[in-house]
Amino acid sequence: MILPITLYGNPVLRKTVEEVDFASADTDLKNFVNDLFDTMYQASGVGLAAPQVNRPIAVFVIDTEAFLDEGDTEQPVKKAFINPEITATVGGNVRFSEGCLSVPGINEEVLRPEGVRIRYQDVEGNQLEEEYHGKAARVIQHEYDHLFGKVFVDRLSPLKKTLLKSKLNEIVAGKKVPAYRIKPNKK
Ligand code: NI
Repeated sequence: MILPITLYGNPVLRKTVEEVDFASADTDLKNFVNDLFDTMYQASGVGLAAPQVNRPIAVFVIDTEAFLDEGDTEQPVKKAFINPEITATVGGNVRFSEGCLSVPGINEEVLRPEGVRIRYQDVEGNQLEEEYHGKAARVIQHEYDHLFGKVFVDRLSPLKKTLLKSKLNEIVAGKKVPAYRIKPNKK
C-alpha cells in the first residue's frame, strides 16, 4: 500500500521516535515495512523512514540500487532497519549531495562520515550488527537522522540555510507539490 509522505513543516518529522516492541508487533510490522518499500519506490526514493509516513516509530528502509552509478564498486543494499543504533562511525567525513522525499526540490551537499557500524533488528526481531560504507552508509545516516527529528537541511551551514529559507517556507506553506502522494501540511 502506498502511504502519503509527510512534508517539511509537519511536526511528526521533528519527533524522536518510539522503539518497536516485537512482543506486540508481528504481522503489522511486516505489512508496515512492505508499505514503506512500496511508498519509497513509487516516489523514486532510495530510503524512507517511518516518520515520513506519519508513524513516529524506529523503522526505516533503504534500497541503494537506484543510487549507484555504473562505475560504483559497492553492492546495492535493500534492507529494513528496526530499532537501529549507529554504534560507531568509520573513516573521515565526506561530502555528498542529498535530497529527501519530505523536502522536495532541494538537493545539497552534506558532510558525513564515510562509513558506519549499525546495530538493528530485522523484521523477524533478530539482532544484527553490520558495517556499511559509501552510498549505503550515506543513506543509512540520512534515514537514521529522521528517527531523531532531524532533516538533512538541519546539517547545512547557517548561510546555506538562509539561502534556502524561501524554498523551505514554500514547502511548509504547501506551495511545493511533488509528483508522488503526499500528506499536505495543515494550513
Ligand atoms: Ni529524508
